Amino acid sequence: MGNSSKRLKAKLTRRRFIARIAAGLATIQAGSLLPSFGFGSSKSVIGQQALSDRKINEISGEKIILPRPEISGEVSIEQALSHRRSRRKYAQEYFTVRELGQLLWAGQGITGEDQGIKLRAAPSAGALYPMDIYVVLPVGVYSYIVSNHSLERISSKDKRIQLGIAALAQEFIPAAPVNLVITVEYERSMIKYEQRGVRYSIIEAGNISQNIYLQAESLGLVTVAVGAFYDDQVQKVLDLPKRHRPLLIMPVGYPLP
Ligand SMILES: Cc1cc2nc3c(=O)[nH]c(=O)nc-3n(C[C@H](O)[C@H](O)[C@H](O)COP(=O)(O)O)c2cc1C
Repeated sequence: MGNSSKRLKAKLTRRRFIARIAAGLATIQAGSLLPSFGFGSSKSVIGQQALSDRKINEISGEKIILPRPEISGEVSIEQALSHRRSRRKYAQEYFTVRELGQLLWAGQGITGEDQGIKLRAAPSAGALYPMDIYVVLPVGVYSYIVSNHSLERISSKDKRIQLGIAALAQEFIPAAPVNLVITVEYERSMIKYEQRGVRYSIIEAGNISQNIYLQAESLGLVTVAVGAFYDDQVQKVLDLPKRHRPLLIMPVGYPLP
């Protein structure tokens, strides 16, 4: 196939993908899902109590303090492990901010301290923590701030369709109520481990991803680790800092029955 016909084919695939997804999202908007309440001014910090039970499509504001994570649950680690599966079909239902906070805490939340260093739920070589998590919601894109378990808005646009296109048109990405994007800043690990820091960081992405899989399972949610995407496109769509390279995308939602 010549270059121009390859380009045409890619263009058509992209168009078909957008049309299919747009039709799907229209159904979601018109169906059971509520539009954003838009509570909180653009500068507001929303308190835990008010926010916990809100659905993730109802949040707005530049900074959101997430509810305190739960450290006990109904599902045993063995049950979560034995039920864990990659699932790509999500119900058209949003989950709560409490559940979103719980997923982020499982991925990167602070769980301890040693000699003044805050330690996180997932292990990290030298406790250097080269990873960040971005949250792609219908109401915008937020960055997870580990130090105070909060979200900071970096965009108020719905980027899910563009994210799906950047991920080789994997349709379940825009169909999920939320996508968690795990990024790496290799330099934070390489400062100590030099080239080996790259290996350590990639291994760490797997640790984080597995924590999120298991936490999702325990909350009755499902997810899949997605590694197939164009790094540059994902970075551009989400307007990520240059040094934050995406490693995994994890769409999360309630499973379709
Ligand atoms: C690093 C990595 C990248 C992956 N990338 C994708 C992907 O791009 N798209 C996808 O649908 N699944 C992806 N998967 C999920 C695998 O397909 C899945 O884990 C595998 O089929 C085993 O199924 P299970 O997770 O249900 O046990 C990825 C998994 C890993 C660990």
